[in-house]
Amino acid sequence: MSKADPNPVLHALLDRHSTGPRYLVEPGPSDAELLMLTEAALRAPDHAALVPFRFRAVRGAARERMATLFEQAARAAGKDAESAVLDRERALKAPVTLAVIARIDLGHPQVPAHEQWACLGGALAHLLLAAQALGYGAKMLSGAKARSPLLASAFCEGGEMLVGWIAIGTPTLDRRAKHGKPPPDEVLSFWS
Ligand SMILES: Cc1cc2nc3c(=O)[nH]c(=O)nc-3n(C[C@H](O)[C@H](O)[C@H](O)COP(=O)(O)O)c2cc1C
Repeated sequence: MSKADPNPVLHALLDRHSTGPRYLVEPGPSDAELLMLTEAALRAPDHAALVPFRFRAVRGAARERMATLFEQAARAAGKDAESAVLDRERALKAPVTLAVIARIDLGHPQVPAHEQWACLGGALAHLLLAAQALGYGAKMLSGAKARSPLLASAFCEGGEMLVGWIAIGTPTLDRRAKHGKPPPDEVLSFWS
């Protein structure tokens, strides 16, 4: 299947790429568009319909509050003042940030944790693809911040885990991933 394939769904899938926060400007997705992105995420394969994830959108004035938490988390992790300010600024770059929260039921009798994580991965991919289809750029990010107890308690309820953040906005460039992917025949083989 080539990228020039006229099938629009396949074309969109084969063209999916991340756009980092430094290349994102206003406007970000509207409330209605955020709901549509979430609906796309909910179409991911999900054994027993557990919905092992949820999102929390951060935009407008809330970005400042998140930026303060990013700075505090960096300081708590031992970063110096200058690096902590960089972390603060990172929080302000994207017009909309979606915190990605995992809700894994570790004791589920039918669906082991790895299947629930697989669902969450599918949901992320759907959401990123849908954002690109609406003309936005987006990138999933995590880093040490995602494991900060301060940020986890700000975004999660008990038993939940902060996976990271999806930055979304209008892309200032049409940036393709630079790192190569393996050819598909290295990933697909035929078992016999
Ligand atoms: C859960 C998760 C966390 C990620 N965290 C980071 C991160 O902290 N920093 C980063 O540069 N890329 C991170 N990535 C990878 C990027 O989102 C992106 O997929 C990668 O740069 C490849 O670019 P592409 O999506 O255009 O192929 C993460 C991906 C996932 C699924």
